[in-house]
Amino acid sequence: MVSRDDDAARGFEKRYGCLPQFVSVAPGRVNLIGEHTDYNGGFVLPAAINRSLRIAARVRRDDSLNLYSETFNESVSFSISARIRPPQIKGWYSYFAAVVDQFMNRGASVPGMDVFICGDVPLGAGLSSSAAFEVCAAVLLDRATGTKLSRKDLALLSQSAEHSEYVGVKCGIMDQFISMLGEKDHALFIDCFTLETRLVPFDSNMASIVIINSMKKRGLVDSEYNMRRHECEEGFRLIERLSGRNFSTIRHIPPEIFDEYKKKLPEKSRKRLAHNLSENQRVMDFVQAMKYADFAKAGALLYESHESLKSDYEVSCGELDRIVDIASLCEGVYGCRMTGAGFGGCAVALILPSAAEEFSKRMIGEYGQAFHIIPEIYITSPAPGASLREIKE
Ligand code: GLA
Repeated sequence: MVSRDDDAARGFEKRYGCLPQFVSVAPGRVNLIGEHTDYNGGFVLPAAINRSLRIAARVRRDDSLNLYSETFNESVSFSISARIRPPQIKGWYSYFAAVVDQFMNRGASVPGMDVFICGDVPLGAGLSSSAAFEVCAAVLLDRATGTKLSRKDLALLSQSAEHSEYVGVKCGIMDQFISMLGEKDHALFIDCFTLETRLVPFDSNMASIVIINSMKKRGLVDSEYNMRRHECEEGFRLIERLSGRNFSTIRHIPPEIFDEYKKKLPEKSRKRLAHNLSENQRVMDFVQAMKYADFAKAGALLYESHESLKSDYEVSCGELDRIVDIASLCEGVYGCRMTGAGFGGCAVALILPSAAEEFSKRMIGEYGQAFHIIPEIYITSPAPGASLREIKE
């Protein structure tokens, strides 16, 4: 059987003239439900997808770190002993450098290495190519440095890498957790306050996960993302002040307290909190529906989530709304919604497996006609999380 990481090993051999010692793989993800709740200590339910980032590497005798990205057909070299500074101009290598820096901060001695990077997670489409890269690098460096962190700690280290000056995005924990902890045929319930996780069986015979890439680049996403975080924090502080009570996170605000004080909140904060509170409940309901493989119920929750993200959280866009509208008219579709940060990127639909091909044709035709661009469609089922393979000499 050809394993998922063979292309990385072959690419390494071609570039560096010998076999790699290690190959790490980390998947992208799709969030089924629970959007913009992770950084508010809420609930999320993502699944890993069958597209991944792969890194092949071999330790060197000197302290050169040579990175080559097949996707960008570009190479860069650093000297480990000179400590890699946050790059002036951020690029694909910033993610790797950020993870190296995190290991060094923890006292690990990172060796020089030749590194080959490849993958098929679409970039900038909201399927977490960045988290996959960080997690993939973390798994590799954990082995190469002999650090032996737990999988959760490696995910947290990857998130710190993304927050650091090297990358600078204040993301929640969802993407790194699912890329690290995903399992085949399971979604992952994450309590983003306690960081507890639970695998939720997903019956792939009943439904395919179909991802529709709007091909709209998520231009404003970083600034709008930080703005949403700010509006939530502001609303949260106001509720605490008005009610004279303290809550651990937004999700700990009792519904009756929110109802009592919501009229006194600025409109934006009120809507942002309303989305968070209703979305957390939808995640719980979705998990319950999965117990009975009740995809009709799960699908209805996807439509509700989309409506809330569009009207209350205001992170959708015309393209994503149109995808959801088209999906709602197609045979065999249980439900559909935008997924990820929003403002472009992808939508996710749950579809009867036998209807997925026909759905794709119709979506390509109708969306293509409306926006003069062909959407990419990825049909997937929950895939395993990150792994590392050692290649015997
Ligand atoms: C991005 C972030 C995640 C999460 C989603 C929105 O993907 O990286 O942490 O906040 O947006 O749900």
